[in-house]
Amino acid sequence: MRDSNRTVRWGILGTARIAEKISVAIHQAENAELTCVASRNPVKAADWAKKHRVKRSVGSYEALLHDPEIDAVYIPLPPSLHGEWTVRAAKAGKHVLCEKPLALNVNQAREMRRVCLENQVQLMDGVMWYHHPRAKQILDLIRSDTLGEHRRLTSAFTFCWETIPENDLRLQRNLGGGSLGDLGWYCIGASLWAFNELPQKVFGTARPYHDVDFNFSGIMWFSKDRIASFDCGFDVSMRKWFELAGTKGSLVCDDFARPWENRKPQFHVTDSYGNSTKYETENPLQETCMINHFCKIIRSGHLEQQWPDLGINTQRVLNALDYSARTETVVSLADFFPA
Ligand SMILES: NC(=O)c1ccc[n+]([C@@H]2O[C@H](COP(=O)([O-])OP(=O)(O)OC[C@H]3O[C@@H](n4cnc5c(N)ncnc54)[C@H](OP(=O)(O)O)[C@@H]3O)[C@@H](O)[C@H]2O)c1
Repeated sequence: MRDSNRTVRWGILGTARIAEKISVAIHQAENAELTCVASRNPVKAADWAKKHRVKRSVGSYEALLHDPEIDAVYIPLPPSLHGEWTVRAAKAGKHVLCEKPLALNVNQAREMRRVCLENQVQLMDGVMWYHHPRAKQILDLIRSDTLGEHRRLTSAFTFCWETIPENDLRLQRNLGGGSLGDLGWYCIGASLWAFNELPQKVFGTARPYHDVDFNFSGIMWFSKDRIASFDCGFDVSMRKWFELAGTKGSLVCDDFARPWENRKPQFHVTDSYGNSTKYETENPLQETCMINHFCKIIRSGHLEQQWPDLGINTQRVLNALDYSARTETVVSLADFFPA
């Protein structure tokens, strides 16, 4: 598909809660159409289609993949199903926007990338904030000399369950649950995105709950004396910030994963003397930014490999951290899933 105005026709696999936000984004996006939703249950699919203004619905994921009028699929299934359905969708010639964590392990994620490339379809994970205009502004500043030499990136992504929802996929190990994949994915991704390379070694520690990590703290050592650390979990109030500190100053974004709703997206840079500059950006819905970006790639006919690459690198660090926490050892990335 190489046509700068052509409508991208979307299908969604599964009536997930997060798909509600993405349906709004597809309706808002330029030249995009929400064509079909699939559920394992046809009645659920039909009800969801009516509620979210989807043209049609089907009672199986496979049926959606056989629909010739679908260009791209959004996969918000439990993480244990991401690999299988991404591969099936790519083989059916559909571009794939797959939720995070991309896969259960690096080999699976690499296979997803390989099959997508072989079938010339885009693969991208569902991290939205990379596509918000604020991310570009932060990255420009990080790449400038404003902060001096980078030393530490610290981040957190947490929320607190009042009552623990035992059936939630986040607490099921067989579905790929755990706070590291659910929330730590963003903190690891932010570190790789800012430092633009993989760490050399990592260490993690977790509080287990029903064989998933309920919370997780990680340290990642990078070249040139840079360290990133983070915590994530389901047991403290909503936090979604990062700080990047360098020899001349530090940058703080206190809502990087999703802008707070009651104000304009912003971040602050503070120098060694306490002089602080506030940067504010425009405020489009970040899910719409992601969908617009994805559609633009499809229309251009040029796949962007940096997205599956970033996803696979995030997966690699995530699995190394998980292994570190389970074995209580520092893990070297070169030894763990070599490139
Ligand atoms: N990017 C973001 O900001 C963001 C935010 C939230 C969640 N997520 C990610 O999105 C994915 C879905 O999360 P969610 O909380 O929205 O999930 P959810 O509401 O529990 O929905 C998951 C859907 O998967 C389908 N499914 C198929 N097999 C299933 C099984 N064995 N057990 C449960 N569901 C099954 C179901 O659809 P049918 O019954 O219709 O077939 C279900 O509605 C996860 O990977 C999560 O990490 C991303």
